Amino acid sequence: MAPSRRPLLFLPFLLLLLPGAEAQKPWTEGEQLDFLRRHWSRPVSPQGKPSARWSPLEASLLPESCGTCHPAQLADWKESLHAKSMGPGVKGQLVEMLASDTDSALGCYACHAPLSEQQEKVAGRKGGFTPNAAFDARLQVKGLTCAACHVRRHQRFGPPKRDGSLASELPRERLPHNGATRTPAFLRAEFCRDCHQFPPDGFALNGKLLENTYAEWKASPFARAGVQCQDCHMPDRRHLWRGIHDAEMVRSGVSVAFSTDRASYAVGDTLEVTLTVINEKVGHSFPTYVTPRVVVSGELIDRSGRVVAGSRQEQIIGREVTLDLTRELFDTRLAPGESATFRYRQRLPGAGLTLRVAVTVYPDHFYVGFFEALLAGGAGKGTAQVREALRAARSSSFTLYVNEVPLT
Ligand code: HEC
Ligand code: HEC
Ligand code: HEC
Ligand code: HEC
Ligand code: HEC
Repeated sequence: MAPSRRPLLFLPFLLLLLPGAEAQKPWTEGEQLDFLRRHWSRPVSPQGKPSARWSPLEASLLPESCGTCHPAQLADWKESLHAKSMGPGVKGQLVEMLASDTDSALGCYACHAPLSEQQEKVAGRKGGFTPNAAFDARLQVKGLTCAACHVRRHQRFGPPKRDGSLASELPRERLPHNGATRTPAFLRAEFCRDCHQFPPDGFALNGKLLENTYAEWKASPFARAGVQCQDCHMPDRRHLWRGIHDAEMVRSGVSVAFSTDRASYAVGDTLEVTLTVINEKVGHSFPTYVTPRVVVSGELIDRSGRVVAGSRQEQIIGREVTLDLTRELFDTRLAPGESATFRYRQRLPGAGLTLRVAVTVYPDHFYVGFFEALLAGGAGKGTAQVREALRAARSSSFTLYVNEVPLT
């Protein structure tokens, strides 16, 4: 059918008749980035008073209140690390820091609890810090809440509807919390940037920023193909944000290939195998932060299941820094598309042996040492919480890949 021009003539009139037509105007890229600059200025400005016509439920900033009407998002969010961003590791350090170094402590909140209402102190007009009248301790422990990403001055902001449209079906004043302003800014990697990327003049070691996830992504083929953080970390708009702490998530981006030089061995032979770890579909370095450690290992196991002494060899994938963050020791992370090959070479000392090659992920490797040092130096009022955080950090490791090959 030949395209007809006539319906276009009527379009402007139709738009005028639609409720909420104004909100439907598309956002330019510049407008989206401007929106994000305002949206993520921190601390997030106090929400102020909600509309007098709102129910207490609509006025509440607690995630559980949002969850009354948005149960799917609440159920996911609760499982996510964003919901745990005011966990014992952070709180345990903050108790003392809030008194001794308030400025730094409030700096932590910028990413871990960014709403004004979550912070017990605010910068005073004449310098120094004063108690915050709007502080809500119940909200603080919720960490990175729904409201931090979605609510400004009690107005809701969100992504376009799944069909791409921006307007609501009803006039906004007839919707709970007066509906929402929808913007494609929620679909962009820049939405995540302020907390997952240090600014260009931020803290760096060996010439590289300590947090550089957005820039790593930006330089990757994923950015060129338009694949955003949300596409991998919020598939189907799920609110789970799974990352290095989740074995399935890591497997979705990293593959491991095993190869051996021959099918069977005799005692006295020298075995040579390789294990290749490939960053196939991680949208940034694997891993992106200095805190995880990935260990690629090979060892021989005897008939009773014990490791043959002297047979273990390892290679580490990660960016290792000293606990006081003064030096980078090495950086063997894999950029998207890169791989690391581990060669295991070992003379077979006896019969009945099994080779075990494995890839083990320690998501909180840095924190184990860090929390130990903190406790040794005296964590003051935060001691019990730091101990709890240490226990959790020690137990978060998992086996990404293991292969046991009988040899003789
Ligand atoms: C009383 C029920 C209710 C409560 C409580 C509630 N919402 Fe909503 N919310 C709705 C409804 C209904 C819509 C759909 C409005 C529309 O069609 O435009 C909505 C829409 C939204 C949207 C837009 C979704 C999209 O399609 O882009 C966001 C974001 C949102 N709410 C966030 C929140 C947050 C955050 C809270 C808590 C601080 C919250 N809501 C509390 C009922 C509620
Ligand atoms: C306001 C700051 C903030 C924003 C915005 C933010 N994050 Fe986070 N994110 C954090 C903090 C803080 C943590 C660590 C929480 C903890 O474990 O204490 C985190 C943790 C994560 C993790 C888990 C990492 C792991 O170790 O497994 C992923 C994945 C993640 N964020 C992805 C995203 C994505 C994708 C976006 C954008 C849609 C985003 N984040 C937006 C602050 C933020
Ligand atoms: C620019 C954003 C940002 C700032 C500022 C920030 N963090 Fe984090 N923090 C993160 C992200 C992202 C993670 C998750 C990745 C990781 O483990 O390195 C994290 C993880 C952590 C963890 C490990 C997870 C946990 O919940 O135990 C601790 C502890 C922590 N931060 C403490 C702090 C402290 C203390 C400060 C202030 C001195 C601070 N952070 C400032 C973004 C930030
Ligand atoms: C770290 C920021 C962040 C937090 C915290 C967060 N969201 Fe979202 N939310 C987003 C982003 C980004 C999207 C759009 C994701 C996409 O489309 O890829 C979204 C989408 C939504 C939508 C639209 C869903 C749809 O199917 O169209 C609703 C409703 C919503 N969020 C509610 C909530 C509620 C309720 C909570 C707390 C329980 C919450 N969000 C916590 C960032 C966040
Ligand atoms: C192509 C998919 C993909 C894209 C795009 C992507 N990620 Fe990831 N991300 C992963 C996978 C897979 C993991 C688990 C492996 C790992 O930790 O590196 C991960 C891990 C993480 C972690 C865990 C911490 C760590 O040290 O690895 C954080 C935080 C994170 N991503 C944030 C982001 C942010 C922010 C963006 C956008 C700037 C982004 N991701 C883009 C797939 C992706």
